[in-house]
Amino acid sequence: MTTTTTSPVLTATGVTMRFGGLTAVRSVNLEVHPGEIVGLIGPNGAGKTTFFNCLTGLYVPTEGSVAYRGTVLPPKPHLVTQAGIARTFQNIRLFANMTVLENVLVGRHTRTKEGLWSALLRGPGFKRAEAASKTRAMELLEFIGLADKADHLSRNLPYGEQRKLEIARALASDPGLLLLDEPTAGMNPQETRATEELVFAIRDLGTAVLVIEHDMRFIFNLCDRVAVLVQGEKLIEGTSDVVQSDERVVAAYLGTPFEGAPGAEEAAEVEAAEAGATTGATPDEAQRGTTARTEDGQ
Ligand SMILES: Nc1ncnc2c1ncn2[C@@H]1O[C@H](COP(=O)(O)OP(=O)(O)O)[C@@H](O)[C@H]1O
Ligand SMILES: [Mg+2]
Repeated sequence: MTTTTTSPVLTATGVTMRFGGLTAVRSVNLEVHPGEIVGLIGPNGAGKTTFFNCLTGLYVPTEGSVAYRGTVLPPKPHLVTQAGIARTFQNIRLFANMTVLENVLVGRHTRTKEGLWSALLRGPGFKRAEAASKTRAMELLEFIGLADKADHLSRNLPYGEQRKLEIARALASDPGLLLLDEPTAGMNPQETRATEELVFAIRDLGTAVLVIEHDMRFIFNLCDRVAVLVQGEKLIEGTSDVVQSDERVVAAYLGTPFEGAPGAEEAAEVEAAEAGATTGATPDEAQRGTTARTEDGQ
């Protein structure tokens, strides 16, 4: 069928995630097409990580569906990985006491065809598969620039290199779509720049990328398209230029209310309640209180 070549790698339709009374993600639609780098931005708590968790089967969305290349995915992490979506985590999740190479090999295992018995008996099929996995893992370490540290324990790597290793581990499952959750958090400007190049290289090798990041320069340099989440809702989606110059995006980040803002009513209620609670303190007293707290906090 010709449609499969043009169909999006990712189609999220009406994805909603509720935790009790809190709607963390509300009816979000998003597509990622082959060859694209798409950014997902929004203030802290906007629901970005929760949305990733819905895409990867870590959470079962309250409503909506997620499809990979036109096929709806079951909400089970290993099946999602097997289908072709890999991810990294906002909080690094490596096996600290495994070597760099072993961590990548773990990521590889969904793609090895050798079964359990073959692995336990360590037969010739297993040894061949193991050798092939090692070769592929070393290629990936070469690609991200960590080949010379293949036998180091991952916990001994500097933070920036741990982030890169997470990317290599994700790539080991040969994904068609890679989800990156704040890949440059804690990186210095040089490392951030290198990560930018790395993401371009990943895309050029045929893996589409959906990336969450707070570093706006990184996002706007990198992405073909950017979607903005605010209080769980997609506020706007467009090219970097369009999103960058949209005043609602600026307002969402600065916390300035704007007409029709998601959650505006709730925010107004909270504000009113807070105003009520502080009556009795003069502005002067309130000011001194703030200063004292700031000094205590140091
Ligand atoms: N497992 C959970 N249980 C309850 N609430 C959650 C859970 N995960 C996230 N949330 C809430 O959902 C909202 C969105 O969080 P998150 O997706 O982490 O935001 P972001 O990644 O955009 O900073 C927050 O209010 C957060 O407290
Ligand atoms: Mg997050």
